[in-house]
Amino acid sequence: MRALFLIVLYAGLCSASSGSNQENIETLMDNVLVLRVPYSLSTSVYVPLSCGEAYQNQPVFWKKNGEEIEPALQGNQVKVLVEEMNGGNYTCHLGPDGEYLNHTVILIQLDPDNRTVILEEFPGEGRGHIYCSAPNYNGSFHCTWRRSATRSNAAVLLVKAERNSEKIPCELDSDGSGILCKDTNCPYKEEQHRVSITIYIHSYSRLEAYTRTFYLREIVRPGKLPNLIITDGKVFSWNYPESWEMPCTYFGLQYQVKVVQKGFPCHSKKEIMSETIEKMTYEVKIKPNKYVFCVRAQDKYTNGPFSHWSHCIVDKHTEVC
Ligand SMILES: *[C@@H]1O[C@H](CO)[C@@H](O)[C@H](O)[C@H]1NC(C)=O
Ligand SMILES: *[C@@H]1O[C@H](CO)[C@@H](O)[C@H](O)[C@H]1NC(C)=O
Ligand SMILES: *[C@@H]1O[C@H](CO)[C@@H](O)[C@H](O)[C@H]1NC(C)=O
Ligand SMILES: *[C@@H]1O[C@H](CO)[C@@H](O)[C@H](O)[C@H]1NC(C)=O
Repeated sequence: MRALFLIVLYAGLCSASSGSNQENIETLMDNVLVLRVPYSLSTSVYVPLSCGEAYQNQPVFWKKNGEEIEPALQGNQVKVLVEEMNGGNYTCHLGPDGEYLNHTVILIQLDPDNRTVILEEFPGEGRGHIYCSAPNYNGSFHCTWRRSATRSNAAVLLVKAERNSEKIPCELDSDGSGILCKDTNCPYKEEQHRVSITIYIHSYSRLEAYTRTFYLREIVRPGKLPNLIITDGKVFSWNYPESWEMPCTYFGLQYQVKVVQKGFPCHSKKEIMSETIEKMTYEVKIKPNKYVFCVRAQDKYTNGPFSHWSHCIVDKHTEVC
């Protein structure tokens, strides 16, 4: 009862002394509070902290980022003044130099959170900060992001992945720059709802949230076509990517075949011919005997992302695939 009274009282004090509302403080996850502040104003907000009910009758002392606070901050329920982006990790201890009991991390997020600095955008129009891709429709997909050079210390705090309010389990890559997710509900059904991924990442006290939404069919990129070979000096053939779904007829692929001038990469504009076909074999009927044969795959029903190119270099009578 008394605890409740104190919390209410502090809440009252806070709004009185800071002039900002309590709704701007939110519990993001266990032990993490997020303070939302407007970009343009300098802010100072009192944030209420509690060491926890378990330590109600103990002599509780607080530290910030492992250092003592001047003047000393005592009591199970306290309030701390957070100015600008100066959040931190507040730990409560049993007595001034006593054992660690609990902690609360205060992070600051700009509101609106649209001046992001932690992640870099992928090059290319509208690519965004998170890139996701899947090698087939079995529900596994991988997303990556890139920290900007000045924020290489940034750490992922939380990943929320869901489709139509159903959680999708994800695992963070060991370097903290990606996630591998497994959506077990989706395979083989027409997708009605988008997958939504939100990454909460912080650099010191600054928190940013990045969201990406997509249908799986928009991110399925077939693997590179394997076993590209040439027979009779002009007939090329290849196999399905190993990671592609079976049965092949249901998840059909189409192929872009392209012949470019020798010495140029497959994506170059120096093309001699280009065609989209459904067979896994192609006969080149052109005059020059020096060229590069290129082929890549795409889901033929969704016209989604292409695989990376496979190629053979033909130079008179030598052929390298
Ligand atoms: C530690 O603090 C968190 C809030 O930051 C609280 O939810 C939790 O109950 C506390 N733990 C104990 C043992 O009181
Ligand atoms: C905050 O401090 C506690 C106790 O030292 C530690 O366990 C926790 O990982 C810290 N959290 C962050 C985000 O620094
Ligand atoms: C961020 O959002 C605010 C309010 O919606 C807008 O006025 C501002 O131009 C946006 N800034 C950027 C960099 O997009
Ligand atoms: C989905 O396919 C990928 C690529 O072949 C494979 O690595 C993964 O284990 C598969 N996941 C499931 C859930 O079957």
